[in-house]
Amino acid sequence: MRAAEFDAWSRQQLVAVEAALEGWVPSDAPAGLGLAMRYGVLDGGKRLRPLLVLASCQAVAGQTEAAMRAAVAVELIHAYSLVHDDMPCMDNDVLRRGKPTVHVQFGQAQAMLAGDAMQALAFEVLTPDHGVEPALQARLAALLARSAGHAGMAGGQAIDLASIGRALDETALRDMHRRKTGALLQASVLMGAACGVCSDAARAALSDYGAALGLAFQVVDDILDVTQASATLGKTAGKDQHHNKPTYVTVLGLGAARRHADELREQAHAALARSGLGGAASLLSVLADKVVERDN
Ligand code: IPE
Ligand code: IPE
Ligand code: MG
Ligand code: MG
Ligand code: MG
Repeated sequence: MRAAEFDAWSRQQLVAVEAALEGWVPSDAPAGLGLAMRYGVLDGGKRLRPLLVLASCQAVAGQTEAAMRAAVAVELIHAYSLVHDDMPCMDNDVLRRGKPTVHVQFGQAQAMLAGDAMQALAFEVLTPDHGVEPALQARLAALLARSAGHAGMAGGQAIDLASIGRALDETALRDMHRRKTGALLQASVLMGAACGVCSDAARAALSDYGAALGLAFQVVDDILDVTQASATLGKTAGKDQHHNKPTYVTVLGLGAARRHADELREQAHAALARSGLGGAASLLSVLADKVVERDN
């Protein structure tokens, strides 16, 4: 796929995702909660997870309404995870998406509640009264719940905090990264695929693609933390070292971490090649390159 073709597709999808998020996140929730929610969700973020849902749906010619709901839902879970990740009891960060973090702007209690409400809203978005078959609603909700909960993101975040100041080996580090970041990215791919029909073999290959891309994403996040400036990242650079966290850079070294990100990108491409989806998967192929080549 040509770069211009991908850019045109992603511009169009991002406009639609932004409009959908804008429509879903309420401004009138009680006592200013809506303002904190909107601050945390809107106006910033690369929206990679929604793009993965929509690209994966397109690869299987799936239902677009269900996919857009899944795209909004996974971004809500992701944005909630960032709000909580930045709180003083976790990473204690003051900058996110180029703005003061939600707790800096609105206070800790409101940040906690905004995250809670964003998580609940994600499942509300996935379970409409009409427009998406109940079986598909259940499938999407199960994929999202599993990837966000104790076996996925929340569990990975618990390992992350328990690992401060400890030397993890590569196996333990991979397990943590797969959970805290990879699971939600892999779920994005699987949710998109669930919106259409594909063979078991294609679904397994897409799952492998999502796993490789998901791990690559956090390897690159670790790399960017040491190689980029805060202004480029829109979040505080150098904080992993500051907090004494084990990362792919501390465990492998910068050069080997970069090579590992490239290996994972190749694994993602190989998975797409064996999916049998051919050109229908070309958006996913470009997204794997973008994840590894990004600078923020
Ligand atoms: C940052 O995710 C947190 C991680 C899971 C590493 P993103 O880099 O996707 O953050 P946004 O959504 O673009 O702000
Ligand atoms: C966060 O990992 C993963 C989440 C579940 C939010 P990081 O703590 O490395 O993310 P950043 O670097 O703050 O975005
Ligand atoms: Mg963290
Ligand atoms: Mg953090
Ligand atoms: Mg990080």
